[in-house]
Amino acid sequence: MDEALKRTDRVIVHVDLDAFYCQVEHVRLGIPTDVPLCVQQWQGLIAVNYAARAAGIKRHCNVTEARKLCPEARFVHVATFADGDTTPQYHSEGISYQTHKVSLDPYRKASMKIMAIFERSCPKYQRASIDEAYLDLTDEVNMRIKTRLASSSSTDMDDDAEPDVNWDGAGILVGDQVSHSTGWRDLQLRVAAEISQEIRATVYKELQYTCSAGIAHNKTLAKLCSGLNKPNKQTVLRQAAVSPFMEKLPLGEIRNLGGKRGTEVEEALGVTTAGELWKYSVETLQAKFGASTGSWLYDICRGICHEPVTETAIAKSMMAAKTLRPHIKTVAELSHWLEILSNELYNRLIDDNALNNRWPRVITFHVKHPLDASSHSRRTDLPPFHDFVATSIRDRCLALWTSGGDGSASRWPIERIAVGVGGFEKLDAGVVSVKNFFKKVEPTDEPGVVKTPTPTPAPGAESSPPSRRKPPAKATNSLQNFFNAAPAPAPSNTGATTTNPSPQKHRPPSSSSSGGPLDAFFQTTTTTTSATPSSPTPQKSEQPASAPGPNPASSDSPFQCATCPPGSAAFTDARELAEHNDWHMAMALHNEERGGGGAAAAPPSSSSSLSSSTAARGGKTKTGPARGKRKRATTAGDARSRKAQPPLAFGRRE
Ligand code: CTP
Ligand code: CA
Ligand code: CA
Repeated sequence: MDEALKRTDRVIVHVDLDAFYCQVEHVRLGIPTDVPLCVQQWQGLIAVNYAARAAGIKRHCNVTEARKLCPEARFVHVATFADGDTTPQYHSEGISYQTHKVSLDPYRKASMKIMAIFERSCPKYQRASIDEAYLDLTDEVNMRIKTRLASSSSTDMDDDAEPDVNWDGAGILVGDQVSHSTGWRDLQLRVAAEISQEIRATVYKELQYTCSAGIAHNKTLAKLCSGLNKPNKQTVLRQAAVSPFMEKLPLGEIRNLGGKRGTEVEEALGVTTAGELWKYSVETLQAKFGASTGSWLYDICRGICHEPVTETAIAKSMMAAKTLRPHIKTVAELSHWLEILSNELYNRLIDDNALNNRWPRVITFHVKHPLDASSHSRRTDLPPFHDFVATSIRDRCLALWTSGGDGSASRWPIERIAVGVGGFEKLDAGVVSVKNFFKKVEPTDEPGVVKTPTPTPAPGAESSPPSRRKPPAKATNSLQNFFNAAPAPAPSNTGATTTNPSPQKHRPPSSSSSGGPLDAFFQTTTTTTSATPSSPTPQKSEQPASAPGPNPASSDSPFQCATCPPGSAAFTDARELAEHNDWHMAMALHNEERGGGGAAAAPPSSSSSLSSSTAARGGKTKTGPARGKRKRATTAGDARSRKAQPPLAFGRRE
């Protein structure tokens, strides 16, 4: 058995919610999932459910186009902060970019509940975005295998024997739909498929959300698989199927090769599929793209990926920003928008405090004037936790503004404002008890969310445009440098048949027990989980979930981002572009604060751990989405505190 377990590998599951924002709205509004439903932000769509996709609606459609395609579809506008709101509301009338600020908080809260289930089911999990996570199930899988072997009646299994694996009920296999195979790795995947079904069934039972999963021996392959059979299906990639699968795979579908970097490789080598890269030696790839990227490419095109499932570190700061169109010219207007940003940060800070028992020391207020190349920043202290109210940040920023100093105080108009908080410090025990008191007296609606991802997105990503897929990374980012931050993959001269142990690879527990024959192992010990809800709509996703590219429909739009690579980030209107610019500004400011310069930060490249939002993190606490950009959440303490506060009024404070 010990020898046999040495022939095992890691087992990774990637789980991704189906049409996530739509499902949140279905559950909130009690609308059956077979009703076509889209989530809109202003006039654009940011999520389309599968019934609406069947009617031809796509994410890049606007509401008018979508209504024509499917008159019976329901359109739900995302929650917004309007004048006087201390929490985001589902406004339906008169929603305007000029008066409202979008909040994706309901989705972030739903995400926290989902992640809590993932974490409960698999302590070694990594949140990869608001609606997806990687689970390293190696330990749990090997434990189940050992337990079943131990309880098996026969004990004469020798080390060379290969277990027989029955794939019935495991999900959809990539490639040949075999019903049986042999081998320890296949056995691991089969057990992982069983656990994956249990987890998906739990998510559905507790939250009524369906999700899809990919099951494979590494993160890249698992991610590729989870999008192959959406919605509500899981897909298993056996080692034997890896090479044929990778051979035909378009390079751009591989995690981290979806944007500029993939194009760079394609153009440099004249290739379009992963298989076409096989003919290049690792030395050639290293010569062209640098040592670590070359090694990584050599491995990844063969389906080899050593990247560990890692806990995401906690954000070091938070930021909220708003681009102002038209530009503002009065203190009343400034006060209004500061109030909204203040509310947003207030809610997130209270949540963060409840989760992480910390409090920031510093507020930084950034103002950008139309003709200036960069913003002006001023700092002040944040009130202590017990003195902090929703208006605190607004008041401190207004005080900074009126006190003058760097010449920005009296200058109008203002094009963009951003408020950041940072310098977090752990609070003492007395403050912890306040936090716990709030939690006790007013129970949260979030079941058992204790050690969940923090509601604190990375500061740069916090202001990222919510309405569009991430544009590819900035043109100036060199492919050679991109992977330097990643754990250096060991060059491999083999094909896709094996992976080298990664530093964090979970070795199976050693065992002195000798197993019994594993013939029909799963026929007796594993049953298909029928608890997983059945698929309501067509099986195929429009595209794998990995590596989303720029929005093709808007590539000819006049609203192009000047910071992103030309043609890579186009928006349907000026408002969406402005929101996108908010993200750039926040990221640039964040980089400035880190001392890294910061004029033009690249948007996060993907949901991988290499996304730029990761750079903002440190420490060990599990935290928010790698992609960031999500808004505040409400806790009991938060709700309680807010009740004592009057609604914030527009422009009262001149
Ligand atoms: N999203 C976003 N901005 C992006 C990417 C995604 O706002 N750059 C939102 C989408 O609106 C979506 C959620 O994040 O609801 C998850 O995105 P994704 O998994 O790509 O799409 P889904 O809508 O969940 O659809 P699918 O079933 O294909 O996963
Ligand atoms: Ca999804
Ligand atoms: Ca996703």
